[in-house]
Order: sequence, then C-alpha cells, then structure tokens
Amino acid sequence: MDQETFDSYIKAGKIASQALTYGCSLIVEGASMLEVLEKIEAKIVELGGDFAFPPQISLNDVAAHYCPPAEDKTVFKKGDVAKLDLGVHIDGYVADTARTVVIGGSEDEEKLRLLSEASKAALEAALKLAKPGTPVSELGKVIEQEIKKRGFNPVVNLSGHGLARFVIHDSPSIPNFEAATNAILHKDQVIAIEPFASTGAGQIYESGNPTIHALSGAKPMRSQMTREVLKTIQTYKGLPFTTRWLVKKHGAGKTAFALKELRNARVLHDYPPLPDKAHGLVSQHEHTVIVREKPVVTTLSEEIA
Ligand code: CO
Repeated sequence: MDQETFDSYIKAGKIASQALTYGCSLIVEGASMLEVLEKIEAKIVELGGDFAFPPQISLNDVAAHYCPPAEDKTVFKKGDVAKLDLGVHIDGYVADTARTVVIGGSEDEEKLRLLSEASKAALEAALKLAKPGTPVSELGKVIEQEIKKRGFNPVVNLSGHGLARFVIHDSPSIPNFEAATNAILHKDQVIAIEPFASTGAGQIYESGNPTIHALSGAKPMRSQMTREVLKTIQTYKGLPFTTRWLVKKHGAGKTAFALKELRNARVLHDYPPLPDKAHGLVSQHEHTVIVREKPVVTTLSEEIA
C-alpha cells in the first residue's frame, strides 16, 4: 500500500470516528432519528468526508439497513437499542464503523448493556487477530465465543467484509461465527469487522421497504424523468445512497418513478431493513482495520497491541 492510499484510509477513518462519536451523543430519549441523521450527514461533510453509504440507525430487532424516509417520525425512547452505522470515503478509500447506543431508563437496562458489551468485546477480540497469516475462521471463532459466553447469539448471516477502492463489500467475508473458510488475512488488506449479538434467533431476514439502494449496472433509460434522477445517482459512483437524498432534490413522485424504472431495468440493487428472525434485540459494533503485524484500526485512528 502506498503512502497516499494509507493516508486516505487514515483520514477517512478519523472523520468516520469523529462523526460516529458525535452521532452517538445525539441519540437520546425524545430526539428525532431523522434530525440526528441529518446532523451526522452535515458533520461528515463539514469534516471533509464523502459518504461511502448513507448513515443509518437501526433500532432494536432491526440489525441493519434502516434509513428513515423523508416523512419518518421515529423518536428515540427509553430502552431502545440503536445501532449507528456510517461509512466515509476519501478518494474512494473507505472507513466503515458502527456502535450501539442503549437508551437507559428501561427495566431491562442491565441486560441491554450486556448485549451491547457482547458485540463490543467480540469486535475487540477479533481486531487483535487482524494480522497477516491469521485464518479468517479464527476471527469468527473469537467473535462467537465472546458473544455466547455472555448468553447471546451471534448473527450468523451478517458478516464483516473486505474493502476496496469505491467498493464497500469485497472479499474476504469475515464470519461472525466459527465458519469453515480457508481464507487467510494478508498484509495491507483492509477489512471491516462487525459482530452483531442477538437475544433472538441470531439470523436476520429482509423485511420492509428498502430506502437504501445502489446502482448495479448501466442501461440507457428512455424516460427523461428517470434520466434526470439517474444523473444524481451517478454522482454516488456505484456506492449506496438513500431515497431521502433523491427526494430532497427531485421530489417524492419523480424519485419513486425513477427508482421503479431502474429496478425494472435491473440496474438497481436494494438493501431492505434486516430484522432478527425471532425479533430478538440486536447490538452491533464495527471498526475498519488495515491488516498489519500491529493492526491499524483506522476508525480509532490508533494502533492496537
Ligand atoms: Co460494514
């Protein structure tokens, strides 16, 4: 990895880390989810980052991929288990990071904190193994152990992932359980590790209307309306975006029409919300790390032992 690439990863990581800490501080009882996300977006822009994907907050049994539509009225309440997940890129070099915020004051607060602690401990244990030569299965093994010993289930059909320039989900896949994989980490690989802990099934499914999408191909579009919206979508360079961004610029009707056309033309990939199958509560923690003898956790902006 050349110095310029390394520096871009570090810069993206620093911005993502600052935006995450800032965003988590805003997740309190009574705050509007939509307003919190808009503040986070503004912060990322202010810090000089580009979005690798739209910042998102998934609550309780929803593990990931909830991004509120423009008319969303969600307000945080006592006992919410909120996962803030955001991605920043600098020149295509991505930092992907997430943290769980438990809103206190509920009867089961202690259990919720332990649930959050489970994915955090799992992440920390796995990060220490992000060294050249480590079998990827070892990461899955420690993640599973840390979560299970606290009495929860790892979410087995969500995984960490490699990162590449303008690519947010590359190989290798980093399992959240002891999976049979022969992959081995090598020096300067950039990976996002993201354990999810669940009080429920430990398996998610796709449910509800997707508000996160990415362009997955190119086809000439006949409709003028679709072409105009597509022009905006192309500025995201193949990275995921949220419906709300398009609605702001093009209005709800035109956006819905264009997305439908693009979906019909099979050039749109949707990311629907991902709830736990048994509707258990889910926590998540995530960092991006450059695989080295001393792993460089970009979203902590420091090395770990
Ligand atoms: Co990720």
